[in-house]
Amino acid sequence: MTDLLICKTKESDIDLIVTIENHHENLPFIIPNSKEEHHGLLTDDNIEHLLLKNGKNKIIGFVILAGLKDKKKNIEFRRIIINDKGKGYGRTAIRKLKKHCFEKLKCRRLWLDVLENNERAKHLYSSEGFKEDKKLREPILMIGGKSNNLLIMSLLENECNNTITKN
Ligand SMILES: CC(C)(COP(=O)(O)OP(=O)(O)OC[C@H]1O[C@@H](n2cnc3c(N)ncnc32)[C@H](O)[C@@H]1OP(=O)(O)O)[C@@H](O)C(=O)NCCC(=O)NCCS
Repeated sequence: MTDLLICKTKESDIDLIVTIENHHENLPFIIPNSKEEHHGLLTDDNIEHLLLKNGKNKIIGFVILAGLKDKKKNIEFRRIIINDKGKGYGRTAIRKLKKHCFEKLKCRRLWLDVLENNERAKHLYSSEGFKEDKKLREPILMIGGKSNNLLIMSLLENECNNTITKN
């Protein structure tokens, strides 16, 4: 597995996170949050805002988990962005986060949404065990004015065991 450290995002990381979100390679696939929204997420106890660093301690992306207080233990894998793409960091992050959500947070369902045209993310999610639940009936409007279909995918507690790696 690619070397990857996961730690809590700090106030001082927010400027970089906003820059990452607004990068032209990421913007077609996400709806970015403002600086103020990110600051708010850091103090929201329903949210985990996590920074991803490589083995040399360089920030290579971030993740937002939501729904930590959900009584039914449905956790939303709300956002992942990897800056240093195509080197396996995304897969490593997802594997570590599955372990974190199912083993530490005792989640019963880990779910996410992904744009239908985001082939790379869809490949990654489905190869890590996520299954498509549904497609929203109406496309969503992205920054720049294009519309895109949104898929909901999830991984259930009873499906996750053989998709969680030991390391
Ligand atoms: C999606 C994202 C998180 C993946 O992280 P990553 O580090 O680039 O991904 P990895 O290198 O771990 O793995 C990418 C996988 O997708 C595959 N892939 C790459 N481009 C692809 C494409 N156009 N279509 C299908 N699969 C593709 C790779 O071959 C690899 O799969 P493999 O391990 O089976 O060979 C990252 O690219 C990213 O931040 N994208 C922009 C923001 C985004 O889309 N976030 C997710 C929103 S739901």
